[in-house]
Amino acid sequence: MNAALQPLDPGTPPAAPLTVRESRDFRSYHAFLRAARNYMEGPLVGQMHDAYERALEAPGAAGPPADWRAAEAVLDGLTEFQFYCWAYRNLQRFKYHRSSLGIFALLEAQRATLAAQLEATAAATPPAQLRLDPQLELPEYFRHVPFHQHTGGVAKDILDGVAYEIGRRTTVPAHADPNGIYRILFETLPKRDYARVLDWGTGHGAALMTWQESHPESECHGVDLSAPCLLLANQRARERGYRFFLSQQDLEHLDYPDNSFDLVFFNFMLHELAPAHTPALLAEACRVLRPGGLFAGHEFHLRPGDPFQNVLQRSHAWTNNETYSTPWYETPIGELAREAGFSKVSIEPFERLNRSVKRPGRAPINANYWNLYVFEK
Ligand SMILES: C[S@@+](CC[C@H](N)C(=O)[O-])C[C@H]1O[C@@H](n2cnc3c(N)ncnc32)[C@H](O)[C@@H]1O
Repeated sequence: MNAALQPLDPGTPPAAPLTVRESRDFRSYHAFLRAARNYMEGPLVGQMHDAYERALEAPGAAGPPADWRAAEAVLDGLTEFQFYCWAYRNLQRFKYHRSSLGIFALLEAQRATLAAQLEATAAATPPAQLRLDPQLELPEYFRHVPFHQHTGGVAKDILDGVAYEIGRRTTVPAHADPNGIYRILFETLPKRDYARVLDWGTGHGAALMTWQESHPESECHGVDLSAPCLLLANQRARERGYRFFLSQQDLEHLDYPDNSFDLVFFNFMLHELAPAHTPALLAEACRVLRPGGLFAGHEFHLRPGDPFQNVLQRSHAWTNNETYSTPWYETPIGELAREAGFSKVSIEPFERLNRSVKRPGRAPINANYWNLYVFEK
């Protein structure tokens, strides 16, 4: 361990917590949205699969689908799949946009207080620990896409990071630890000295905080295009007394010197990148890693040989504005990683994340699929 690194700012009191006031109606409504999502991703998937099997076995049916296109032709005609797509799109829309109970309405009513607190915490942060760049030009592929139906994207309004943080509540099942997905990733990494780490697309900073909890010796850096997300990540870090180094940069053009990090980790990032940029983004991640350093993260994908899962997974491209996910499935990421300079490339199914829908007495249905990516410089 590098004993010289201090995660806490000596003598600096933690920032007061930023609290969004939520009415009982707001909480109930969002609990309902989360329950509806759990239903959609569990029992509804089971019912959809039953209907799909019946359709494949119906007299005159063409038999098992050869690929996802054939499976999609069957699913498109099923009420269950139509409802699944409707629910995916609209539950997400309702959570942001519902006129009185949506996240945007909630934040609008508290705009002045929340914005003032984010700004005050930023002003009290040493400049090296929060570097915002108002001149940064957001890449086209990012600027014009309202990912996950977050209207305007996550980089325009000062409260976008707060909206993103609240939004994840209805994405993660009620019983689950929202940071568990990060913990599971970190637990799979080799036990080593990670003196300096970079969270590649840190967003609201929850992954970096989860890392710091279990690796107090690490100097933690987070980069994102979104100033509002970085303001919130800074707020949350300072509430905990963590000394992070957050900066608003494009991951394709980092200002860190070569060989700066022992680990660059990412969560849910590869499917959000325009494929034309992926080679340069990987090359830049490789450049800032020291020799032997790791670039590691998880990402969803198509389950090989499972046309049913492939159709569901692909549908999220348009139901949830996952604009670059479809080309992501075709991206030869292993080859690109080698071309970018990584010497060892490992891509494995991430079994701990690969949940299935259980059905008593019958085979479970696989609705999701994740890979674990570990590239070594
Ligand atoms: C799906 S979010 C993931 C956020 C976070 N890693 C998490 O676990 O929730 C993608 C994040 O990557 C950021 N991002 C996308 N492209 C980027 C780029 N070229 N450079 C820096 N950040 C980028 C977005 O602003 C967004 O915060």
